[in-house]
Amino acid sequence: MKIIKRETLKQKPSPDTELGFGRYFTDYMFTMKYNVEEGWHDAKIEPNEPQRFDLGTSIFHYAQGIFEGMKAFIQPDGSIAVFRPEENWARMNRSAVRMCIPQFPEDVVEEGLEELLKLEKDWIPTKPGTALYIRPTIVATRVMLGVHASTEYLFFIILSPVGSYYAHGLEPTKLLVEDFYVRSAIGGTGEAKCLGNYAASMKAGEEAEEKGFDQVLWLDAKEKKYVEEVGSMNMFFVIKGEVVTPALVGSILPGITRKSCLQILRDKGYPVSERRISIDEVIEASENGTLDEAFGTGTAAVISPVGLIRYKDKDYVINGGKMGEITKMLYDTITGIQYGKLEDTYHWRKIIK
Ligand code: COI
Repeated sequence: MKIIKRETLKQKPSPDTELGFGRYFTDYMFTMKYNVEEGWHDAKIEPNEPQRFDLGTSIFHYAQGIFEGMKAFIQPDGSIAVFRPEENWARMNRSAVRMCIPQFPEDVVEEGLEELLKLEKDWIPTKPGTALYIRPTIVATRVMLGVHASTEYLFFIILSPVGSYYAHGLEPTKLLVEDFYVRSAIGGTGEAKCLGNYAASMKAGEEAEEKGFDQVLWLDAKEKKYVEEVGSMNMFFVIKGEVVTPALVGSILPGITRKSCLQILRDKGYPVSERRISIDEVIEASENGTLDEAFGTGTAAVISPVGLIRYKDKDYVINGGKMGEITKMLYDTITGIQYGKLEDTYHWRKIIK
């Protein structure tokens, strides 16, 4: 892999810095280009510097772009582990199909990521709960205003040392059930990790924040009846001892942490169900005392307990506003595997040597 070195390195945040999420970026990035004549080409690692783009570039106008979120962790023996990267590459290529972006070679980007991580190893934070967040992205780069798929693309991977996604860390989140705005409809782009999904969610997110909530809990677009996801997390509920998560009906992101949690739960013998779950069922369970726990899962959010949901102006406190037992078991198992504290029986850690 070609590596273009930079002359001076950036100042790294000190080990005590409150990293937050996505505020600091490392020295280097991986890039690769696409055009019709050459396909994907010119894969390299280069300094992560501000870029210049013509303002007619199609990504600025029609958001033809996709991304992923992954994390790298320092292991007890000093090596680097990435959590299930092959799952992210496969999902990114599925998102590419939905957004008319050409399929990329997964082996080339994996090699690029591994080289990049080796070069940036000193940026991986080691304080508990921190990691190096990996953001692979593809954007349409043809300069053109017609509404058509671009014929040129840029693939890049940037890295950011992060702490917890929520400012309040592992404190249970408060969610506002959104019954006006919608995130995605069946046939839309909800199951692709495309840029526009996140832009479309911001208005509801801002209104929820103004009311003191962390995030919005989305309902299905057609009936505003079934729980979908949170936008940065998939949702799980524990009702009468059964762990329920909304089925992937086409408008929900197929989360990799979600998939990992389902496997852990099934292997440990918990009753698990992937099905449509209505907000009325959740509210009824809360009212009759059978909603034991609720939590969200995601790369950035890891496993986040949900302590309260508001629906139609009424607040429902879950598990006394505290993290529940199953939530804690999943948090400990997932992070134990990620940080190399538990045996990796699933082979989810990709060790970069
Ligand atoms: C992730 O969890 O990695 C995400 O992409 C969600 C959000 C930060 C956009």
